[in-house]
Amino acid sequence: MATRTPFVAGNWKMNGNRSLVEQFSNALNSESFNGVEVVVCPPVGYLSMFAAQTFRLGAQDVSHLDNGAHTGDVSTDMLSELGAEYVIVGHSERREDHNESDLNVAAKARKTLNAGLTPIICVGESLSVREAGDVNEFVGKQLGALVGEFSPAELAKCVIAYEPIWAIGTGKTASPEQAQDVHQFIRGYLRDVDAEMADKLRILYGGSVKADNAAELFAQPDIDGGLIGGASLKTEDFIAICQAAI
Ligand code: PGA
Repeated sequence: MATRTPFVAGNWKMNGNRSLVEQFSNALNSESFNGVEVVVCPPVGYLSMFAAQTFRLGAQDVSHLDNGAHTGDVSTDMLSELGAEYVIVGHSERREDHNESDLNVAAKARKTLNAGLTPIICVGESLSVREAGDVNEFVGKQLGALVGEFSPAELAKCVIAYEPIWAIGTGKTASPEQAQDVHQFIRGYLRDVDAEMADKLRILYGGSVKADNAAELFAQPDIDGGLIGGASLKTEDFIAICQAAI
């Protein structure tokens, strides 16, 4: 099996300010993360305020279009210039607030990868889908849109984040077993497409990951790290979560 580099990304969502940027830069840069890929994804306007060193920068969304007459949108060119190396695409909040479909998400991931950036592609079900017993079918459909867009070699360069919507910001974390079950399904689905790609691809868990539950989640065989929302706004918590991935 391929050894996958552990990965932790902080998603600030629409939070933060100049002083949090300074606090994060100072605190994270005095830590070493021993081989964990650590990424901070602040709101796009704050990207240029970071001088990242021990960590990398990412954005929370991107346009699928080229530079031009698209008011309010931000392109991959712009994100690269601002120092971002990763882009979260298809977060459930964007799918909901902006009606992003699986095809929109695949188009954004395509644009991101073509620009030499790494897409962190989010998938995950709502509570009603889980209660109906349709998790694999639902997540499988989201993955299907990606498999339709990318070759196995391209998919191997992406990062997938499994984020059950019912666990995001609710304090209700999926149990390590629940999360592992879906991660195993995702890897198995992709293994049917290409085994080497599926072994290489990092799959993150997101949804109420905290300093005190991270280690248990990251110890699962198919969980390669986390996408962290609320706890990524507190330096000590985020650092503790990154250390739990070592
Ligand atoms: P949370 O958010 O950690 O606050 O649940 C995770 C996410 O939405 O990426």
